[in-house]
Order: sequence, then structure tokens, then C-alpha cells
Amino acid sequence: SLSGYEHYMRKEYLEQPASAEAVLRGRLDDRFGTPRLNGLNLDPRAKREIRRVKVIGCGSAFYVGQMGAQMIEELARIPADAEPASEFRYRNAVIEPTTLYVAVSQSGETADTAIAVDEIKRKGGRVVGVVNVVGSSIARACDGGIYLHAGPEVSVASTKALTNMALAFAMLAIDLGRVRDLSVSNGRRLIAGLQRIPGQIAQVLENEDQIADVAKRLSGAPSIFFIGRVRGFPVAREGAQKFKEISYRHAEAYQSSELKHGPLALISPELPTVAVVPHDELTGRNLGALQEIGARGGPLVAVTHGDVDFGELIVERIDVPRNEPELDPILLTVPMQLLAYHAALHLGHDIDKPRNLAKSVTVE
Ligand code: BG6
Repeated sequence: SLSGYEHYMRKEYLEQPASAEAVLRGRLDDRFGTPRLNGLNLDPRAKREIRRVKVIGCGSAFYVGQMGAQMIEELARIPADAEPASEFRYRNAVIEPTTLYVAVSQSGETADTAIAVDEIKRKGGRVVGVVNVVGSSIARACDGGIYLHAGPEVSVASTKALTNMALAFAMLAIDLGRVRDLSVSNGRRLIAGLQRIPGQIAQVLENEDQIADVAKRLSGAPSIFFIGRVRGFPVAREGAQKFKEISYRHAEAYQSSELKHGPLALISPELPTVAVVPHDELTGRNLGALQEIGARGGPLVAVTHGDVDFGELIVERIDVPRNEPELDPILLTVPMQLLAYHAALHLGHDIDKPRNLAKSVTVE
């Protein structure tokens, strides 16, 4: 039930410190610096034999899947990418026995994802699920998986399930890394990082009032850019997705590295940019892109960390605590939920049931 909250979406994003705890519970081994993911049904040798990882999902699950694929490639050094299941199922994809397919779905009932899973299985591929609803169609069709334990999610715009998907992918990436070349000390560093995340999500949520102010100002713009690069790009994509779904404002994500190859033509004082600026080896390059935007009068919001210095640039900042660079995208995604929610609230929209959208699309 709503138990006093105005909307399920807000109730659900405020539940995240506890729901994030639930997906990690019992799954982190500090001694070996590795997760324990028994539900995957993969022994160490099967994990070592994986040559490629292909993640499929729809909507926000696809964007988190892209974040997950990046984590897997970075931490396990296995080539990995994500694709919308809605595309994958129609293009007669090559199915390889040495590829691990990962199906991501909150409901476990999305038709495009379920049919893609059946097609992979029919061709002899191995599929694991990253799914919230226990016993759902996709969970049953997969060879194994990671349940999200986020609890029921009612709001069409997914929040706590998405965060748990990202955490599940981080665990999968560390697990696949630790049977390969990820050292025990790096494994321990990342496991300790995961343990800090629920508390750090609570810190982000404490900034709700400030994020709401930024959201109100953004809600006045007819169109908004969301930008990031490499680790920040899936965060930007999910930020744009959430914003358009419930605020009905046009929002577009592009890689900040692509600014000079096209989007710069549109920068003006009327078009705000929300930039994801993690503290990592690309911070300097991100700041360079922001300077280009600022120089053309483009209003800037940065979702970043307290120790990132923007110098003379005029930026409205939303600061998120730092974790480990490989895991920071998980925390940087949380303010995107609040930006979308408070923009939609200010505009007076039906937040839990946005027009034309359904929580899960189970028909073709
Ligand atoms: C869409 C919903 O149609 O399905 C999105 O509107 C959701 O919010 C997507 O991300 C995928 O749903 P699921 O249940 O497969 O994660």
C-alpha cells in the first residue's frame, strides 16, 4: 500500500537503502573478495569458458544492462555488450555456445525479452536471468540467475528494481572477474564498496529538497540533454529515459565525447544539459565538454561528487558520495530518479501511471 506516500514512485525510491541491502544479503564473501551467486548454476570452469557476454532487456532494464555489460568488460575482461531485447529477437542473431546471455527484467514477463530468451534457448544458448519477480516466465525459462529481492514495484517508472539490477551486475562482474584475473585485493576492495552502497544511497536521498529545486527549474525547458561518457553514459541514458517517461519533456542522451560531432549545434541558453561527471580518469575530458557548453550559454547541471572542481564554470551541482570508480555509476543513477519525479510532480502529471505506458508489456 501507499502507507502515507503520495506516489508509489517516491515510496519505492525511498525504500532503496533497505532494498539494496536485500540484494546483497548473504552474497558477499569478504575473505575471498568475491560474491556467492549460487543461483547462476555455473561452476568455475563454466565461468572460465565464457568468451562473450550479451545482455538483453527493454527500456530501463536495457540501460542498466548497458551499465552491467560495461562492468563485466571492465572487471572480468570479457567482451560484453547490451542490446534491446525488442531488436535482438527480430534480427536472427548469431547464438554462440561460449557466450553467456543475460536477460534483465523487473517483471520477468516482458514479451520481447521472454521471446528473445526462448529463441536463445532454442538455439542451444545459455541464458541467466537478472529478474525481480520470483517464478516469473523469464526466471523459469532461464538456466539460472540472480533474483533482485527488491520487493513489489508498482510505479511504472522503475527505481529500486533498477538499482538492484545494477548491484546484481556488479556482483556478476566481480564473480566472473575473480575466476579470471581480478586479484583478491581488488575483489575485496569492490566487495567493501558494495557494502557501503546502501548507506550512501541514504545520503543521496537526504538531498531530496535540493534535487527537487533543480528539477523544478529543469521542468520549464521544452528539451533537455543528458550527457556522460563511458561509465557515465548509461547513467545519462537512464536519466533521459526516466525524465521523458514521467515529465513528458523531450530528453535526449548522447555521449559527451560526441558533443563536437553534432549536438554542439543545438547548444543555447534555452537548452539545459544534465551532465554525469564521475571522479575518474575521464573527469578532465568531461570538464572540457562542459566548458564548450558553458561558453555557448548552455545551462549546466552536474551530477557529480563533492571533490570534483568545476573552476569558473557556472554549474548547478548535485553531489553524490564517492564509492569505487567502477561502482560509482550505481549511485550516480539515484539523483536521476528524483530529478524526474520532482519535475513531473511540479508539472502535475500522473506519476505512477504515465500516459501511454504500462508497467510491463506482456503482449506483442
Ligand atoms: C516497459 C516499462 O514497457 O518495460 C519500463 O514501461 C520497463 O518501465 C520495461 O523498464 C521493462 O520492464 P521489465 O519488467 O522487463 O523490467
